[in-house]
Amino acid sequence: MQVLESIQAVQQSSQAFKAVGNSVGYVPTMGYLHEGHIELIKRAKKENDIVILSIFINPLQFGQNEDLDAYPRDREHDLKTAEEHGVDVVFYPTESIMYPRPMSLAISVNKRTDVLCGRSRPGHFEGVVTVLTKLFNICQPDRVYFGMKDAQQVAVVDALIEDFNFPVELVAVSTVREEDGLAKSSRNVNLSAEERAEAPAILEALMLGRSLVENGEKNPVEIRAQIRQFLENKTHGRIDYIELLSYPALEAVDTVKGQVILAAAVHYSKARLIDNIVFEADGTAG
Ligand code: PAJ
Repeated sequence: MQVLESIQAVQQSSQAFKAVGNSVGYVPTMGYLHEGHIELIKRAKKENDIVILSIFINPLQFGQNEDLDAYPRDREHDLKTAEEHGVDVVFYPTESIMYPRPMSLAISVNKRTDVLCGRSRPGHFEGVVTVLTKLFNICQPDRVYFGMKDAQQVAVVDALIEDFNFPVELVAVSTVREEDGLAKSSRNVNLSAEERAEAPAILEALMLGRSLVENGEKNPVEIRAQIRQFLENKTHGRIDYIELLSYPALEAVDTVKGQVILAAAVHYSKARLIDNIVFEADGTAG
């Protein structure tokens, strides 16, 4: 496994693999790898000859009061995990390699952003698409792998690839969960024992919402109110949002129909957790 820090080295490596007919799958991450990331690596491995993994905590996508400093890091564990799962190239740049000077240009995100995490994290998705534009040009993959845990990110990246004609195919992978249903996240280590015990309530609340829909409740206001009440009873975390939108357009609906996303974000003392489920309002799997 090659561990590369330089942009040019990764570009050359990717081009050399492709020149002899290999397909390249790419998994962008911020490290502290867990089974969610590993699932993306496994899928990329299955569908491509070569797998590139990047590990970079992108400061541009963190807001002023967000958990950039608290974001967990473990280089040794991450490199070992990548090696064990057959990653061919790890791109592990420093901040000054990725952002040697303030950017002269910016990409604005006009749709799919004023809802869910975009509403409470202004500038977040601009930061995500900026780093991904750089990373796509550096890693030059045929396919790129994202988790549905961050469903809004999938929707925004889908628009990035389409609007700017990146020659890359987006593959969305289902959320990997702990046994009690909590979505795996690098941020889970920042929960206290009490918070960790309460956090599975987020998925339970979303599943309650889904069963309301499947039992005929089609009013999003009513569904959200019931989810809120359930969550307030089950956890001390502060609810950031509970939303029910069309997916992937992420538009508000008066009546629940078609493919929808039910999503919630909850603030705990040192971590903000998000989760979502995407499903068909008529009861078929999403
Ligand atoms: P990060 O939070 O490290 O996540 C990297 C990828 O792993 C994302 O596509 C995310 O959706 C996926 N992932 C995380 N937890 C998952 C889980 N439990 N099940 C399935 N997939 C999971 O997302 C980012 O980094 C950054 O925004 C990035 C795309 C790297 C840009 O900086």
